[in-house]
Formats: sequence, structure tokens, C-alpha cells
Amino acid sequence: MKRIAIFASGNGSNAENIIRYFRDNPNAAEVVLVVCNKPDAAVTKRAENLGVPVKIISKADFQNQDMVLELLKEAKIDIIILAGFLLMIPPYLTEHYKDLIINIHPSLLPAYGGKGMYGRHVHEAVVAAGETETGITIHLVTDKCDEGAILFQAKTKLTHGDTPQSVETKIHRLEKEYFPKVIESFIRNRRQ
Ligand code: GRF
Repeated sequence: MKRIAIFASGNGSNAENIIRYFRDNPNAAEVVLVVCNKPDAAVTKRAENLGVPVKIISKADFQNQDMVLELLKEAKIDIIILAGFLLMIPPYLTEHYKDLIINIHPSLLPAYGGKGMYGRHVHEAVVAAGETETGITIHLVTDKCDEGAILFQAKTKLTHGDTPQSVETKIHRLEKEYFPKVIESFIRNRRQ
């Protein structure tokens, strides 16, 4: 049974979905901690409502290696999931949790990745470029933004009428469907 920490900065609909998934399928893993850099982010309420402890760590405190690693050690965290987490993961964390940090990105990487490409910005760029499809990428995290090994991608078709909002809805649907399952199979495959 692996112990997951979710790092999130905003709304937290993916965080909530992952918490619920592992609460209902408790064989592989359990979400035992949510780490957030914004005290007023909706994800903090979502986690609290589901009984998952939340730790607020400011951008500056993320540089405090001893404090962050101690927190994760105390909670016996095996795997870190980034679900809408907007800070760069510092190198001490990618070293300590090598191949054990997973991110979701709302495009088909390497397209529409890198600095500044997050949330609605991604969908605006996809629509502006007239793409006929987009999707999600679930990947391992390294210290290079959006460049770690890809674990999974899923696509969705776009039409002329699509707007950044409608693309976001399509992407969220894919994220809800696949992210928890991909985390679960990642954990199961590592056991063999
Ligand atoms: C998701 O679209 C995720 O792919 C991106 O940020 C968004 C977070 O949404 N990295 P939420 O906070 O989980 O609702």
C-alpha cells in the first residue's frame, strides 16, 4: 500500500477525484497528504472535507529542503502527484523522489508545454493554432519543465466551434477518467 501526497495550487478537482478513487479502491494506494502553496485555494477545502490533512508551504518555504523532506518523511510519502501544481519542483525533490513524482499536463506534450503553458493558456494556444485534436499527458517529473518520461496520453477531437472553455471541459473529462487509473497502474507495475 503506497502513500501518496498530492501537490496542488488551485481548484483541486483532480486532487479530489484521486482522493475519492483511492478511497473507493484502497488496494494500491491511499492519499494521506495534500500540499498546497496557496492558503485560500479551493483544493484545501476539498481535501479537508474528505478528511485528508493539508499542509500549506509557501513558495519561499519550498526552498527549505530539510523542512520539506522532513514533512514528507514523517508522513511516510512514497509517491508525489502534481495535480495543477504551479511551482517548479526543486532539484532536491526530484533527486530524493527520482521517478516517483508524476504530473498531469493538459496537452499532448511536447506540444504546448514549457514555461507559461499551464491551465487556460494551453487551451487558448491550442484553439488559436486551429488544432484538430488535443489531449492530456501524464509524465514523470524531472527538473526540466514538462520533459520527463511520458507514462500515458489520451486524445480528444476538436471542432471549429471549440473555445478555450469547451476544450478545458473536454480535457477535464479525460483527466477525471484516466489520471487515477494511470497512477494505480504505475504503482502496480513498479511492484513487479
Ligand atoms: C488541470 O487541467 C491539470 O492538467 C493542469 O491544471 C489543471 C488543474 O485543475 N495541470 P484542477 O485544479 O485539478 O481542477
